[in-house]
Amino acid sequence: MKKLIAFNWKMHPNKLKDVEGVLMAFDGVDIDLDTYEIAIAPPAVYLPLISSVFYELKADISLALQNCSWEHEGALTGELSAEMGKNFGIDYVIVGHSERRTYFGETDEMVNAKAKAVLGAGIMAPIICVGESLTIRNKGKAAIRQHIKKQVIGAMKNLTSDKVVTNKRVIFAYEPIWAIGTGKAATPEQAVEVIAYIKEVIEANYKLSGVRVLYGGSVNAKNIMEFVGQDAIDGALVGGASVDKKELKNILKKLHS
Ligand code: PGA
Repeated sequence: MKKLIAFNWKMHPNKLKDVEGVLMAFDGVDIDLDTYEIAIAPPAVYLPLISSVFYELKADISLALQNCSWEHEGALTGELSAEMGKNFGIDYVIVGHSERRTYFGETDEMVNAKAKAVLGAGIMAPIICVGESLTIRNKGKAAIRQHIKKQVIGAMKNLTSDKVVTNKRVIFAYEPIWAIGTGKAATPEQAVEVIAYIKEVIEANYKLSGVRVLYGGSVNAKNIMEFVGQDAIDGALVGGASVDKKELKNILKKLHS
């Protein structure tokens, strides 16, 4: 299974010229596509521009949404359905990012409904984010496990095993909240420990093996291989470093063939 490197641009950048500037990081880099799959989750309004730039650059990069509605279609001002994404050629949707949980009140139930909408639309995979706060981390291993298990089970509720097993179409990202945007990444050991636990929970409860789990939280060019180089870690979800042209270029160089 390829390692997935997904770039989460969040609500950046504001200027169109900066979008084009960052994208130039992809120009002339020869990524090892036998080992890695690269996906980009920009603000949705930039998707048409980005897909045409990748076409010009002949860059084989998958497109992702940062969020979607749990509904199929409807009078829901401001929302975007998974199916609209699918029809645009979207391969992944980030679901339940901690910023959505914190600032937009997303619950495990909503995350579950969105994951179902993504699978139902026939998109390759939801990338379901889970992770503990610093308060929970400081309480120790049992508290971390309890929190992670609740989020994983909550997100997976009634996702029919068929859909998941036959297509391996669920991806998780372990993103400890204390590591997001802080410059303080987890250690590879901390990431491996929780990721192994996520896989254990999925195997025990759904008899699923081979579900990919990424690491996210202050990943940059300097540390990406420490995470992605681990057998247990199936890729990375990169935020801030992926909207900085120089840093992104350096990350892509690490994924060079
Ligand atoms: P960061 O964000 O790389 O800026 O820490 C990661 C994320 O939120 O997905």
